[in-house]
Amino acid sequence: MRAQSLFVPAALALVQSGLADRQRPLASLHPSTISQPPHHAVVGDDASAAITPTYRDSLLSLHKSLVSIESITGNENEVGRWLIDYLVGRGYTAELQFVAPGDGGKERFNVVAWPGDETRRRNGKAARAEPKVVLTSHIDVVPPHIPYSISDHGDDITSHTMISGRGSVDAKASVAAIITAVDDLLLAGTDASIGDDLMLLFVVDEEVAGAGMRAFSDSLTRMDPPPRPFSAVIFGEPTEGKLACGHKGALFCDITARGVPGHSGYPWLGKSANELMVRALARVLDADLGTSDLFGNTTVNVGLFEGGVAGNVIPEKAFVKIGVRVAIGPQKDGARVVEKKIQRILDDVDDEAFTFECSQGYGSVECNCDVPDFDTITVNYGTDVPNLAGNHTRYLYGPGDILVAHGARENLTVGVLEQAVEGYKKLILHALDHA
Ligand SMILES: *[C@@H]1O[C@H](CO)[C@@H](O)[C@H](O)[C@H]1NC(C)=O
Ligand SMILES: *[C@@H]1O[C@H](CO)[C@@H](O)[C@H](O)[C@H]1NC(C)=O
Ligand SMILES: *[C@@H]1O[C@H](CO)[C@@H](O)[C@H](O)[C@H]1NC(C)=O
Repeated sequence: MRAQSLFVPAALALVQSGLADRQRPLASLHPSTISQPPHHAVVGDDASAAITPTYRDSLLSLHKSLVSIESITGNENEVGRWLIDYLVGRGYTAELQFVAPGDGGKERFNVVAWPGDETRRRNGKAARAEPKVVLTSHIDVVPPHIPYSISDHGDDITSHTMISGRGSVDAKASVAAIITAVDDLLLAGTDASIGDDLMLLFVVDEEVAGAGMRAFSDSLTRMDPPPRPFSAVIFGEPTEGKLACGHKGALFCDITARGVPGHSGYPWLGKSANELMVRALARVLDADLGTSDLFGNTTVNVGLFEGGVAGNVIPEKAFVKIGVRVAIGPQKDGARVVEKKIQRILDDVDDEAFTFECSQGYGSVECNCDVPDFDTITVNYGTDVPNLAGNHTRYLYGPGDILVAHGARENLTVGVLEQAVEGYKKLILHALDHA
């Protein structure tokens, strides 16, 4: 057990000395000095594939292990334990931060880690970790499990080699690339401080409710004295290797319509819940629910639709679930603005037939995308960015394409994964430079 557990008050701490001397500094590093990956040329491939970073084997092996362990939300325990062992074995201090179990009732936890060995840290000047920059991603994945596979083996691997399987993109590619980037920066350094400034955070439950990131965020507010605020947090999610300027907000709602049942030959004697729902939804879909230059239109997905009992009965009840992607801010209130617009439409169609209940939701989320040498993008999916309270600079970046991420074709290439390692290294140095 670790006595002074900084971020994880009730955690079981795993501490082990290891490669403490890997903990090296920033001083000699500058973004311009690392814009080319460390590499040796390989013969007999085309130009872009002819660059083999020195970390390729360890990166691919880490990525393979992570993807091979099934970790559908609620079942993150095994991959979390594997990751703790891996990080400790590489000289990190790693802790478990327990998070309430999901539907399956299984114990699960976030992984919080720092470069370097805690014993050395405690004996040295830094009595406790005060990270300036946090790198985070999630270790849960969506169902169903798809086994790991790689299109080439052994010496045949090039930057074009394709890797597939559940989580190969979302977000175990980010997890593997983040760890490799930090490792590579530590190896490249010559004195000792970069490790003290960084923290790794791999959370559970991102794909369902964000309980992992919320638990971490809450643990910070309970600390006494409060920790030094983070300067920047880098969130790893599939952004095609581009720096995201932000993402849409989200709002999930249930709409119920109640009518009066009756014989379908005499519709005027009843009140059709289905008809009310169809009329209301058509208006919701056509309405301007809020638009911004950065994110475009707010969009509505009618994701579940049920109502009525038989073709010859006027339906008494209709029920719908909608998912709204919110294009307007602010993060705190943007979703409420959209909710009120929808409520007004429902009231206008029938002021007593509908009940309308929404999740808390949030408006559009802005991130910092003003970093030299990065292409930029905006994305329409939700992330853990809004689940971490604080005024830190937020970066959202990672390898792979969201359009395949939750589907059967989830895959990326070795080259894409390696580019992300270089991207994370640049972002880390940029964030530390501005800390
Ligand atoms: C955004 O919504 C407006 C109507 O509110 C519509 O005219 C426009 O085509 C929509 N834009 C996109 C990209 O769908
Ligand atoms: C963020 O900054 C605002 C205004 O500067 C302040 O009111 C708020 O308490 C800060 N939040 C945190 C979590 O530090
Ligand atoms: C692999 O992912 C890309 C997107 O990055 C997609 O276009 C392609 O269809 C996928 N390939 C397979 C074989 O699943």
